[in-house]
Amino acid sequence: MTHEEYRAAWRWVIGLADSGEVPLFLDLFFESTVERLTFDGRPGSAGSVEGPYHLPDAPELTGRPFVLPMRADEPGTPMLVRGQVIDTAGVAHPGVEVDMWQAGNDGTYSGFVGDAPRSNLRGRMRTDEHGQFAVRTIRPAAYQIPRSGPTGEFLGMIGQHAWRPAHFHFILTSAGHQPLTTQLYFRGGDWLDETLPGGGDVAGAVKDSLIIDIGRDNDPDTIAAFGFDGPYETADHTFILSPAVPTPTV
Ligand code: DHB
Ligand code: FE
Repeated sequence: MTHEEYRAAWRWVIGLADSGEVPLFLDLFFESTVERLTFDGRPGSAGSVEGPYHLPDAPELTGRPFVLPMRADEPGTPMLVRGQVIDTAGVAHPGVEVDMWQAGNDGTYSGFVGDAPRSNLRGRMRTDEHGQFAVRTIRPAAYQIPRSGPTGEFLGMIGQHAWRPAHFHFILTSAGHQPLTTQLYFRGGDWLDETLPGGGDVAGAVKDSLIIDIGRDNDPDTIAAFGFDGPYETADHTFILSPAVPTPTV
């Protein structure tokens, strides 16, 4: 390496720190590896990266069916997300905290980019007596890493596109179980397939078992029951929690 190259790298690292993109850069290039090293082989359903856009203080939602906080004119295809939470023995778990967050129809996360309220499309819910939850939201759009900052510049230098496939985020917390941080993707969506030209997820965080089929519902009764204006899409997933690891006694 020449001194000139050293200085260019030096300037890029300082610029990364100054830009506030350190969490983005680290999660993008390292978190999926750490996640796999930590959790591959764990019983229960697959986890995925938390990423840099979780806010710990999302509002606690009340009143079933849940509605993720959104603006009156929130753009996007209406979607109902239904989850079933069980353990590795197949037992349903009531009272599990489900912290859910997502990008909007423009691929941005509230509290980070754009002018949506800080809690837009973020909420914490609890499973009912059957270990289930249902929440009304909109389908998130694919997310593009900001191109203008040091992370985008780095992706350009290595010839890598900046896209993550559309996804929901979840953190499930239940006493006696390991917290489950995961994501759900949509079958047929863009940026899922590593084998296509241009490649897959820039964060390398997709797992086959987390790609779900989108359903459609146009039954007037359920449209009314869930408070939709018309037909909506559905996304269903069973989350399987792993038993807590016993704390070693010395
Ligand atoms: C990353 C993860 C996300 O979920 C996201 O929306 C953006 C970036 C990441 O791992 O860098
Ligand atoms: Fe994300």
